[in-house]
Amino acid sequence: MTDTAVTVPARARDALIVALDLPERDAALAVARDLKGRCGWVKVGMTLYDGAGPDIVRELRALGFKVFVDLKLHDIPHQVRGACGVLVRQGANLFTVHASGGRAMLEAAASATAAAAERFGVPRPAVIAVTVLTSLDDAALAEMGFSQSAGEHVAALAALARDAGVDGVVCSPAEAAGMRALLGPEALVVTPGVRPSGAETGDQSRVATPAEAIAAGASHLVVGRPVTEAPSPGAAADAIVAEIETAIQGRE
Ligand code: C5P
Repeated sequence: MTDTAVTVPARARDALIVALDLPERDAALAVARDLKGRCGWVKVGMTLYDGAGPDIVRELRALGFKVFVDLKLHDIPHQVRGACGVLVRQGANLFTVHASGGRAMLEAAASATAAAAERFGVPRPAVIAVTVLTSLDDAALAEMGFSQSAGEHVAALAALARDAGVDGVVCSPAEAAGMRALLGPEALVVTPGVRPSGAETGDQSRVATPAEAIAAGASHLVVGRPVTEAPSPGAAADAIVAEIETAIQGRE
């Protein structure tokens, strides 16, 4: 795999990814304009990608953000190869695939991304793997025919993704320390389920503060509603970045 342009950030602003889970382009861009210069990244998931159309990636790049496109690709290698090439062309800097797609699919994602980056003359985006959805527990996995515990399954899938040339994982803050130990210092460990101290937890059941997630070894934190639903998204992002900064200094 060629070197990716996305590395474990030294600066707090580059560690914060704000999830723009809004179905309307204009509303998402209004939040993004408020965040401009205050966080390095925004995340486009299926709500915004499908609601606004793929061009939203280019528009967010034009505002100066790096863009994480979180579509969790999971299909036969041929289809995933094609989708990765399209995401590179659209300007994604980071995107997700399901590790449970298996080695051939993961290798197709990694090689297609590198090839497309070369073809379009852009730095190679990073590819990260979803292991076991955090909504699944041991009982749910057993019901699906898996004999390993969720923790064992997460570790096996993360190692498979690493061996296939994928750059890291998305995982809960509770799994971050284990993933960092397994994957090493260069891996991307991206954690949603982050809530600033004192914030509402909403439908996230196991949450950590930004400081806890960074201390556990997360490279990037995904925060959505605590920023997008704040009276001032920019001010909410500033407060999280300040908390990350203190945690990064504590880790050095
Ligand atoms: O609004 P909130 O901060 O809960 O948003 C979290 C983001 O992270 C959402 O975009 C969601 O899709 C994503 N995510 C998650 N839990 C996972 C994987 C992804 O909340 N296990």
